[in-house]
Amino acid sequence: MLRRLHPEQPESFAFTPANQAWAEAQITKYPEGRQASAIIPLLWRAQEQEGWLSRPAIEQVADMLNMAYIRALEVASFYFMFQLQPVGSVAHIQICGTTSCMICGAEDLIAVCREKIADKPHTVSADGKFSWEEVECLGSCTNAPMAQIGKDYYEDLTAGTFARIIDDLAAGKVPVPGPQNGRYGSEPLKGLTSLTEYESGKTKYNASVQLATDLGDTVKRIDGTEVPLLTPWLDKDGKAASRAASGKPPAAPEAPKPAVKQTAVKKSDAAEPSSPEGAAAKVTEEAEPEKLTAARGGKPDDLKKLKGVGPKLEEKLNGLGIYHFDQIAAWTPAHVAWVDERLSFKGRIERDGWIEQAAKLAAGEEIE
Ligand code: FES
Repeated sequence: MLRRLHPEQPESFAFTPANQAWAEAQITKYPEGRQASAIIPLLWRAQEQEGWLSRPAIEQVADMLNMAYIRALEVASFYFMFQLQPVGSVAHIQICGTTSCMICGAEDLIAVCREKIADKPHTVSADGKFSWEEVECLGSCTNAPMAQIGKDYYEDLTAGTFARIIDDLAAGKVPVPGPQNGRYGSEPLKGLTSLTEYESGKTKYNASVQLATDLGDTVKRIDGTEVPLLTPWLDKDGKAASRAASGKPPAAPEAPKPAVKQTAVKKSDAAEPSSPEGAAAKVTEEAEPEKLTAARGGKPDDLKKLKGVGPKLEEKLNGLGIYHFDQIAAWTPAHVAWVDERLSFKGRIERDGWIEQAAKLAAGEEIE
């Protein structure tokens, strides 16, 4: 199957405020200059929020990580866990079609999908509620055939039980996941024949189903408010606790930290202070740099010549009233802090050496 961007794309993408805070916190997990390592969790969160990955979502994540769009698209199009086309508003159903499931009736389940959802996979049903696809082994082979619906596994399915599950979901119910034939886990259908002293049953359902029903997020889209934002890898000053540098383990988990806090911390880390007092003093005041309502003479400089600036970022800089290299070359640390905050750059201007580059470009020199 060719994996490419869907021909119809939304105008824009934005994380919910809580998901944005979560994403910014994830980025602080990685060492300076290695922020791109956060690409998979961020793309995944974007998909959990929207159901699928649109081009604006991929580009937004790329911008947050200072990556070229093509690099982010390479990741999104490589991993089949990322949906590159719209999915059903209620659920995207993944049917395992690998050996055990195929032998035990996966084709019957696929026939149900064709009848109830759409003839072809990756097609949204007429009512907009469902989509489906066949996937490789999901690791639940002893409960074949099975399907993943939302975040849960529905196992030991027949065409009849599976059709009922789809009907229930369409009616707004969330059927209990797990084995659908009366089994607790993957024991013999007639019960344990050995190790009976380990008969479980301490909870109503097996552990994973119990957790799924307790959490209840099932087919729900994630807006980031579901769980508290924890950043145990940051110390109480909001800086990355470095086991390598200190020889000590990271600090204990902190209370949830808002995204703003993360941004402020990163803003000050170009030169790490050596003391807590220094850390407090290092947070740079912001000052608005010179802004223009339009490019002088209607001719903006090609800001894409600056390291890491692509068309989207150039547009954002223009939106802030920045059109020329000499404007950037004149920035003070307070101006840098102002721009950094508005573009959620986390020190990128200093890291990428924009001011030095802009000064050379403004003087008509070439840069690498
Ligand atoms: S073969 Fe279907 S879950 Fe493994």
